[in-house]
Amino acid sequence: MQVFETIAAFRTARKGYAALGFVPTMGFLHEGHLGLVRRAKAENGAVAVSIFVNPTQFGPNEDYASYPRDPDRDLALLKDAGADLVFLPTPDVLYPPGFATRIEAGGVADELEGQSRPGHFSGVATVVTKLFNIVQPQRAYFGQKDAQQCAVVRRFVADLDIPVEIVVCDIARETDGLARSSRNVRLTPENRQKAPALYEALQEAARLFRSGERNTDVLEGALRVSLIKAGLPDIDYATVVNADTFRREGSCSENALALLAVKAGAVRLIDNMPL
Ligand code: PAJ
Repeated sequence: MQVFETIAAFRTARKGYAALGFVPTMGFLHEGHLGLVRRAKAENGAVAVSIFVNPTQFGPNEDYASYPRDPDRDLALLKDAGADLVFLPTPDVLYPPGFATRIEAGGVADELEGQSRPGHFSGVATVVTKLFNIVQPQRAYFGQKDAQQCAVVRRFVADLDIPVEIVVCDIARETDGLARSSRNVRLTPENRQKAPALYEALQEAARLFRSGERNTDVLEGALRVSLIKAGLPDIDYATVVNADTFRREGSCSENALALLAVKAGAVRLIDNMPL
């Protein structure tokens, strides 16, 4: 496994690979990330991973400074997972003095997370485009955990004619159902106990949907009740949308997607489930 901090050094090493899968990450890796890496390796023969906590996708009152970081541990995990190339830039490598361009993500990017976190998806689109240009992968792997991010990436890749195939991988969960996330380590013990309630609320909505319920108000009501009962009343959104548009419909279509964003103390948790 080779590790590079500069774009020039990475590009030189990249020339040694005909085909490459790519997994962009913000580090503090867990089984969710590593599943993407293993799949990318299996499907492409070689895999590049980036580790970069991207400042431009964090809002001014968000957790950029306190986002967990442990590059040495990450590199050991990536070596075990079979990573070939790792790109680990510092902020000034990707955003040197004078940097002045931003990709404005529209469409699905305007909904849900886009409302709660203004500018977030533009930051994601900008950094992922830069990483695609540096890594030049055949395929790039993203997690369904960030369902809306997947939709945004598919959109700008199509709109900007970027020659990469986007592959979406299932959500990796803890044994109690909590979606794995780098931010989970920041949960207090009390909130860590409450946190599986997100998955339970989603399962409850899925049960209702399977039994024929299509009224969005009813499904959303069930999501809220489950969360509040579990002691997680600080709900940013608990909604059911069309999985293509990320827009709410009064009566759900067959490709309904339930999505949650909940504050558990200082930690904002997200999760989702196709119904
Ligand atoms: P990060 O949160 O580190 O996630 C990197 C990738 O791992 C994303 O595609 C994310 O959806 C996936 N992932 C995270 N938790 C997962 C889980 N429990 N199961 C499956 N996949 C999971 O998402 C980002 O970083 C950034 O926005 C990034 C795309 C790197 C741009 O900065």
